[in-house]
Amino acid sequence: ADGALLDRRQRPWRDLRISLTDRCNFRCGYCMPRSRFGPGHRFQPQAQLLNFEEIAQVAREALALGVRTLRLTGGEPLLRRDLPQLVRQLAALRTLDGTPPDLALTTNGSLLAGQARELRDAGLGRLTVSLDALDDAVFRRMNDVGFPVSEVLRGLEAACSAGFERIKVNMVVRRGVNDGEALPLAAHFRGSGMVLRFIEFMDAGRHNGWKLDEVLPSDELRARIAARWPLQPLPATRGGETAQRWCYADGAGEIGFISSVSRAFCGDCTRARLTADGRLFTCLFAAQGHDLRPLLRGAQGGEAQLREQLAAIWARRTDAYSEQREQLRPLRPERADMHVLGG
Ligand code: GTP
Ligand code: 5AD
Ligand code: SF4
Ligand code: SF4
Repeated sequence: ADGALLDRRQRPWRDLRISLTDRCNFRCGYCMPRSRFGPGHRFQPQAQLLNFEEIAQVAREALALGVRTLRLTGGEPLLRRDLPQLVRQLAALRTLDGTPPDLALTTNGSLLAGQARELRDAGLGRLTVSLDALDDAVFRRMNDVGFPVSEVLRGLEAACSAGFERIKVNMVVRRGVNDGEALPLAAHFRGSGMVLRFIEFMDAGRHNGWKLDEVLPSDELRARIAARWPLQPLPATRGGETAQRWCYADGAGEIGFISSVSRAFCGDCTRARLTADGRLFTCLFAAQGHDLRPLLRGAQGGEAQLREQLAAIWARRTDAYSEQREQLRPLRPERADMHVLGG
C-alpha cells in the first residue's frame, strides 16, 4: 500500500523512536535498578552520542522511507542539553506526504514544569508522561530516588497550560508492587482529558528482575476498573498502535492497555529504535543493533547511502519477540537495556 517500505512480514516502517541519552535521574526498578546502576555505572561517553545534525539526518531519511512518527525518548530525554533546538530541527522535516512529522516525546515528567512551554513552542506535538503511582510514598519507592509525585503532577499541569492536548500518562503495573495504584490513578485522570495507559511489566533488558508473577494481565486489570466504572471498547486509531483503547461509559474519557506480554502486538509492529550512540534496533528485544555511525561520520557517507542502509535493515526485519517470548527468552540473554533503547 502507498509504496511504503515493508519488512519480511509485510509490516511498513512508520515510527522511529529516538533515544537522546541513556542517562536518567530516576532509578525505576523495572528499568535501571539502583543495584546495577550505581555511582560507578559507565554511561555512553559524550563523544559517542549523535549530535543534533546527525539525529536529524537519520530522521530525514527515515521520513523519506515512509516514517510518520518521531518519538524522543531516553533514558530521560529532558536531560539532553538544548532539547528545544533539536525539536525545532525535527519539526521542520517533512514526511513523504509533505506534512510535518508526528513529533512526540516520552518523559518521566520530573523536569517538565520548567520545560513544557519551551518544548511546545519549539514544535513538539505530543507528550507522554510516565507515572507509576499517585501515592507519594509508593511513587518515591518506584522511582527509587525519593522524587515527589507532586512535582510530576505540576509538570503535567504546566504541559496542559502550555497547550499540549490529550497528554498520555503511562503506568507500568507490577503485581504486588504498585497495582494498588491503578484505581487511584484512574480516578485521578478520569475526566481530565489526559489518557491513562496501563503497561504490562515487560522482560526488557537484562537487569530488571522480570518475573511472570509480577505481570498483571490487562484483562484482569480491566475487569477491576470496569467493576468500578463500566468501560466500552474504542476502535484502533491506526495500525500498529501499542495500546488497546477503551472509554468510560459515563463519558469521562479514554484509557488504554498495553499488553505486550498477554497479547503481543508484533503482527503490525511498525517501530524501529535509534540509540543515543547511533545504533538502530528493529525490535525492543533485539540482541543487537546496526551501527549507523560509520556511515554518518565516514567520509564517503551521503544521504543516498544512509537511506539505502536504513531501507535494507528494515526490509530484512523479521522480529516478533513478544509473540515468541517463551522460545526466544532463553536464547536472547543479551537484550539491550530499556534505558538505552528508550522503551
Ligand atoms: P503512542 O504513539 O502515543 O501510542 O506511543 P507509544 O505507546 O508507541 O510509546 P510510549 O513511549 O508511550 O510507550 C508505551 C509503552 O509501550 C512502553 O512501555 C514501551 O516500552 C512500550 N512499547 C512501545 N513500542 C513497543 C513495541 O514495539 N514493542 C513492545 N513490546 N513494547 C513497546
Ligand atoms: N516494562 C514495561 N514498560 C517499561 N518502561 C520502562 N521499562 C519497562 C518495562 N520493563 C516504560 C516506561 C516509559 C516507557 C517508555 O517504557 O515507564 O513509560
Ligand atoms: Fe528513567 Fe524512564 Fe527508566 Fe524510570 S523507566 S529509570 S524514568 S528511563
Ligand atoms: Fe515490535 Fe519487537 Fe515489540 Fe514485537 S516485541 S511489537 S516486534 S518491538
